[in-house]
Amino acid sequence: MGRDVIIACDFSGKDEVMSFLDKFTDVKPFVKIGMELFYAEGPQIVRDIKARGHKIFLDLKLHDIPNTVKKSMAVLSRLDVDMTNLHASGTIAMMEAAIEGLTRPDGTRPILIAVTQLTSTSEERLKNDLLINETMENTVMHYAHNAKVAGLDGVVCSPLEAERVHDRCGKDFVTVTPGVRFADGDKGDQVRVMTPAEAKRIGSDYIVVGRPITAADDPVAAYKRCVNEFVD
Ligand code: C5P
Repeated sequence: MGRDVIIACDFSGKDEVMSFLDKFTDVKPFVKIGMELFYAEGPQIVRDIKARGHKIFLDLKLHDIPNTVKKSMAVLSRLDVDMTNLHASGTIAMMEAAIEGLTRPDGTRPILIAVTQLTSTSEERLKNDLLINETMENTVMHYAHNAKVAGLDGVVCSPLEAERVHDRCGKDFVTVTPGVRFADGDKGDQVRVMTPAEAKRIGSDYIVVGRPITAADDPVAAYKRCVNEFVD
């Protein structure tokens, strides 16, 4: 699996996302579609963007009983997405069922990655709300290892965790890292950030970049800058 830049298309509707993608004429970036756009437009948005030649990371973070996740993953697999995800807290049994559902009759399947703990969950909430008395780091690494045991391809994590995930789960275990900003850019609401060049140095496999590209004056130039720093 090669290193790549994934653009987070956090738009609320089809018109907005399509006019954004219209700007890309000579390159067809890997794009992430999240819950907001998917729930607004339904699965047709995936088919439409695929038909334009983009790879798609469908970020729906499934979490349910294994049988429901298996059947839902089969639907996403037929939509021909390239990457999708689930919550590792759904257990190893749920993750194994997800792989079964995703796998097509010819043995191929989209890349499947896990969310360990959401970065919005603090260590205090982990203890008080979820009754998890381990540290955040131990929890994240344990969940990443569970994903590996279940046969998943990798995890979404902070660029700052990517190195440790690779140490624990192996170099081939994919790390997909948001929280990327240009050295001279606005951090927005992200707290712990890395530049694309730093993310490359610490071994991220994919970076997920939203506003530094989508809100740029020249999104195509910003995308190409990311690719230059991270991939080339
Ligand atoms: O605009 P920005 O570059 O901050 O977008 C980052 C993308 O990655 C958003 O779609 C956000 O929801 C997602 N994400 C994140 N932090 C996580 C997990 C996902 O920023 N821990």
